[in-house]
Amino acid sequence: MCGIVGYIGNREACPILIGGLRRLEYRGYDSAGIALLNHEGNLNVYKEIGKVANLEAHLADKDASGVIGIAHTRWATHGVPSVRNAHPHLSQSGRLALVHNGIIENYAPIKQHLSEQGYTFQSDTDTEVLVQLIEFCQQRDNLPLHEAVRRALNEVIGAYAIAVVDRQEPDMLVVARQSSPLVIGVGEDNSEFFVASDATPIIEYTNNMVYLNDGEVTCLRIGQEMQIHTLQNEHVDAQVQFVDMSIGSIEKGGFDHFMIKEIYEQPQSMRECMRGRLLASRHEVVLSAVNLHRAKFLQAKRIIIVSCGTSWHAGLIGKQLIESWCRIPVTVEYASEFRYSDAVVGPDDVVIAVSQSGETADTLAALQLARERGAFLMGIVNAVGSSIARTTDTGIYTHVGPEIGVASTKAFTGQVLVFAMFALALGREKGVIDTQTYEHVIDELSRIPDKMETVLRQNDYIADLSKRFTYAHNFIYLGRGYNYPVALEGALKLKEISYIHAEGYPAAEMKHGPIALIDGEMPVVCIATHHQLYEKILSNIQEVKSRGGRVFAVVTEGDESVCKLADYCIQVPETLSPLAPLLAVVPLQLLAYHVAVQKGLNVDRPRNLAKSVTVE
Ligand code: F6R
Repeated sequence: MCGIVGYIGNREACPILIGGLRRLEYRGYDSAGIALLNHEGNLNVYKEIGKVANLEAHLADKDASGVIGIAHTRWATHGVPSVRNAHPHLSQSGRLALVHNGIIENYAPIKQHLSEQGYTFQSDTDTEVLVQLIEFCQQRDNLPLHEAVRRALNEVIGAYAIAVVDRQEPDMLVVARQSSPLVIGVGEDNSEFFVASDATPIIEYTNNMVYLNDGEVTCLRIGQEMQIHTLQNEHVDAQVQFVDMSIGSIEKGGFDHFMIKEIYEQPQSMRECMRGRLLASRHEVVLSAVNLHRAKFLQAKRIIIVSCGTSWHAGLIGKQLIESWCRIPVTVEYASEFRYSDAVVGPDDVVIAVSQSGETADTLAALQLARERGAFLMGIVNAVGSSIARTTDTGIYTHVGPEIGVASTKAFTGQVLVFAMFALALGREKGVIDTQTYEHVIDELSRIPDKMETVLRQNDYIADLSKRFTYAHNFIYLGRGYNYPVALEGALKLKEISYIHAEGYPAAEMKHGPIALIDGEMPVVCIATHHQLYEKILSNIQEVKSRGGRVFAVVTEGDESVCKLADYCIQVPETLSPLAPLLAVVPLQLLAYHVAVQKGLNVDRPRNLAKSVTVE
């Protein structure tokens, strides 16, 4: 989704802004632009279609100077990708430049009104309407920029993170947010400020950050405390947080792509996620979320998990873990459907939102609905300080580190691990899980990182196998029980980055329809690790083989039966069924990665996709 970067200080803004846009490239975009302002009030705007590199090339022979600037990567919503529709957008007089992430829902009536006042529009965007509205308020009431922004935003319905500069006030940068993320980095003694959609472009300059809340407008001036006001003009004190993130964690570190780096990081990210929570020597799981809200969780009549995409798949595994170990009924809902449903939710329910970015618009809206109906809200989030983390009553961070590759990998295993620890802790509090199982799972969880390392050693073999599948136009993924969501996740990974159509099914469902698709051209990925349904999935594999399908199986080390039938077998170490997804998903991530690499595709930034889906 769109990315915003802003700077005000005494350095040249352009390199900071371009570097920042590069750091936000992972979010997905189709055009990029920059506006630079100097203290004399010269405002220049440059835009290009395509990559940030195109914008950089365009700037090469320009005098791109200025100590205040705003920059943007656009992911088209209103109007096709084009230079005309790219941000920054200028106001009618050319005095204001604005970048925007989000959607102004009532842009049409505002546009109509402004047209009647003589305003004309150069683009098809909702954003241009907003910048014209700000100028209209500014001129009508003779207001300073920050006040005009506040007035204009009071007339707007929708989601936005914005940054605005004014060539007649070349000493300030004004930013605001409503339902779209925005972070401000604070330089020493307020000597400079950095603005961005997330912390990644800022972290190389400062760890001190302020996360704006919804409905806040902020005026940034060099050497002065930032001034934050609500839309109702109440003053808000800035809460500066120290964000503990290293530059190394957002760079590729010798890998060809972020995705493969992040797949390889999983043993370590599992350790980070368990640190201080899974106390193996004491056979204990300690989660402050559960300890602090014990009564809420013990009273819960039902748990509702809301999420999207990969996070929804993790939720499906979470459901099985919680139902098994806590005996609380769980439903798993697509956040996008839940938000518009007439869901029966109330004070006896706990709603768990699962999200890597913590900014997914549908998930946030689902939480809003649950909040209105009195449910207790918990987040399982990766991005520290993100909107979902701040909206929920409590939460458990996955702590797997920044995930830059658009296809989610380590976030998924982190989410599953958090669900496992949560279900253990709550099952223990409820006295439902027996001591032997509790301790056995804890022991086994502590071995998962090493076992993942064993799986990763098969990377070269999987890379080699992937060459045999690049021809395919369709894949089927089959799994049962805990491995059914793994089948869904494997199929999603392949679709996203290799553009091969893939479907995941519970294996037994195959004979109710999808079996008609199977022929010698159809690769079928079967997740057939040892568990109670092993014999059943063996029969399903037989059914595929007898129709000529090519089977790629993920099995437990030492397996003989499936390996005799399958065309290709990847072995993963033995573990408990409920933890099998943590190992079984890794070969599927690698398979998707290598097929996409073989096809020469842009693995980290697949077409049409955004890392952080901040619009509905
Ligand atoms: C898939 C993927 C998406 C996200 C989904 C939710 O690889 O990344 O399906 O899982 O957009 O995003 P978050 O988890 O940030 O809420």
